[in-house]
Amino acid sequence: MLVAGNWKMNTDVPDGRALAASIAEGLSSASSDLGTVEFLVCPPYVHLPAVTDALADAPVTVGAQDMHAEDEGAYTGDVSAPMLTSIGCDAVILGHSERRKYYDETDADVNAKAQQARAHGLVPIVCVGETLEQRKAGEADTVVQGQVDGALSGVPIDSADELVVAYEPIWAIGTGESAEPEQAQEMHAVIRDDLTERYGTAVADDVPLLYGGSMKPHNAYGLLSQPDIDGGLIGSASLAAESFLGIAEKAGKVLEEARD
Ligand code: 13P
Repeated sequence: MLVAGNWKMNTDVPDGRALAASIAEGLSSASSDLGTVEFLVCPPYVHLPAVTDALADAPVTVGAQDMHAEDEGAYTGDVSAPMLTSIGCDAVILGHSERRKYYDETDADVNAKAQQARAHGLVPIVCVGETLEQRKAGEADTVVQGQVDGALSGVPIDSADELVVAYEPIWAIGTGESAEPEQAQEMHAVIRDDLTERYGTAVADDVPLLYGGSMKPHNAYGLLSQPDIDGGLIGSASLAAESFLGIAEKAGKVLEEARD
């Protein structure tokens, strides 16, 4: 179970460092069993060294929110995979719907970045998800399958820890209205089938499939207890240690129940 925070363009560096420190503190004093829950936070680029430092002794990995597909060059304002790995980044979010919407990112762009991430040992967190119009038109499955295929075509994945896919229905992001657990499960099963065809069962069964879109402590249990939901990619609720760890507690509960 992976609990991941996407901080988006929020907090300044001192506040980001303080948030990371309070997550670390919360984890070290957690009373419930979070032992097998995995954690990742993806702050803005300029926060990465401070946040990595604040989490140095905590079981939390650090990722970026995007990157360029080239190693280096005249791309003003961009950040490359070697830059990210050089400061200890492990993962990178790719193809978030906000990148697709505001920067016209296409599946081909996401694919080039996913290839680049793997070439540099970064775990791509590939985001997919349909709009409300597409869902109403009955196209959610085909849209999401197309995004998965577009992002991963020709991307070599040899083991489950080399990839994360996040299903983030656009209508649920930042709206306070999350998908129903069964709705999300249905889409996760579609993604799992697609990954199975592409990479085989041994890999696909264990690739973490995260749900994202208004996940909060109060709705996390229902979502995380679905068979193909392996964690969350959390936006606004990841901006406070209390709600981020509140979701983690629900993940811990699901894992504990699975063990019993
Ligand atoms: P919210 O949790 O704020 O809806 O954001 C979800 C998201 O976009 C995570 O990448």
